[in-house]
Amino acid sequence: MKTQVLKPDDENIRLAGELLKKGELVAAGTETVYGLFADAYNGKAVKKIFEAKGRPQDNPLLAHIDSIEMMMDGLVSDFPEDAKKIADAFWPGPISMILPKGEKVSDETSAGLDTVGVRMPSNEIARRIIHEAGVPLAGPSANLSGKPSPTTAQDTFVDLNGRVPLIIDNGRCPYGVESTVISVLGDKPVLLRPGFITKEEIEEVLQKEVHVSEAILGQLKEGEKAASPGMKYKHYAPKANLTLVCGEFEDYIRYVENHPGENTYCMCFDGEEDNCPMPAITYGKKEDGAEQAHQLFYVLRELDRKGAQTVYVRCEKIDGIYLAVYNRLIRASAFRIIHVSD
Ligand code: TXA
Ligand code: MG
Repeated sequence: MKTQVLKPDDENIRLAGELLKKGELVAAGTETVYGLFADAYNGKAVKKIFEAKGRPQDNPLLAHIDSIEMMMDGLVSDFPEDAKKIADAFWPGPISMILPKGEKVSDETSAGLDTVGVRMPSNEIARRIIHEAGVPLAGPSANLSGKPSPTTAQDTFVDLNGRVPLIIDNGRCPYGVESTVISVLGDKPVLLRPGFITKEEIEEVLQKEVHVSEAILGQLKEGEKAASPGMKYKHYAPKANLTLVCGEFEDYIRYVENHPGENTYCMCFDGEEDNCPMPAITYGKKEDGAEQAHQLFYVLRELDRKGAQTVYVRCEKIDGIYLAVYNRLIRASAFRIIHVSD
C-alpha cells in the first residue's frame, strides 16, 4: 500500500473523511500525539488498526468525538455527574474518560469490555477530521505497538509507511504525551494513565480524592488484571537499553561515570550536558515538566536516529505533570530504575 503524507488543507481533510467513511485508516496529529483513526462503529475498519500497529487484540481503543452530541448518539449509555464535571472543565482537551459503552460501539473498539474510553481532542484539524467522518473515531497512538508514540508526521511515517493510505501532517504535537485516562464509572474516580491534566487538577474539579491505579507506578505481577489493559505491555521503547537514574545530578554523574559503554548517551536536563562524561541529549528544563513531556517521545526517537545503544535518563520528581513523564520513562526503560540519592 502506498502511504500519502498530505498537508491539512480543506481538500485533504475531506479526503480523510471519505477514507474513514469507507472503513479505511487515517493518521493525523492531535494535541497529545499522532493518532491512527478508524470508524469506531465499524468492527472491520477497527480491526485494521490492530493489524497496522501489531497491537494486542485485548487492548481497547479510545473513541474520539467532536461534540457531546456525537457521544450521546450511541457511543455511551450513561454520562455520570463526575464525568460531566470533567467534560465541563477540560473538554475539548487532553483527558479521556472510561464510560459505560453505548449500543453502537464495535466489540473491536472496546475489546469486548462493557465500557468505552472517550476523548474529545482540542486540536482543530483532528476535530475537523472527526466532523467530516461523522462518527466517533477509534484512535490509538500512531506507533507500531511497543514503540514511542509519534509526535510528528515524519515519526508516524517511519512506523506506518506501507500500512496506511493517508497521514495528515498537521505539525508537531504541543503536549507530546498521550491524554490522561480516568475511570469515572463508580463513586471513586481512578486515574488509569497520567497525562498533561493532573490528578491534582481533577481532584480540584471533582472536590474528591482521585485514586491512582497501581499499574501507573509499577509493573503488574504475573496474572494480575490491569484496569487499563494498555498498562501491562512493554511500551514506548526505543532501540537502546534505557536505565532510569533517579536522584540528584551529582549522584547521577557518579553513576554514569561508573557505567561507560559503546554508543552510550546521557538524557538529561537543559544546561547539564557540558558536565556529562559522554554525549548528552536534553529533554527540557529541570523545572518544566510540561516541556519534558513535550520533548520526551521526540527525544527517544532521536536517540534511535543517533544509534544509541545505552541511555541513562535523568529523573528527579514524580508528582503533578512529572508523573506523566515518569510513567512513560519506567516503561521505556522496562522498569530498570536506579535510585542514586537517599
Ligand atoms: O492522547 C491520546 O489518548 C492518544 C491520541 C491519539 O488521542 N491516544 C492514545 O490511545 O493514547 P492508546 O490506545 O494508545 O491508549 C489508550 C489507553 C490504553 O492504555 C488503553 O488500554 C486504555 O486507554 N483504555 C482504552 N479503553 C479503555 C477501557 N474501556 N477501559 C480501560 N482502559 C481503556
Ligand atoms: Mg499508545
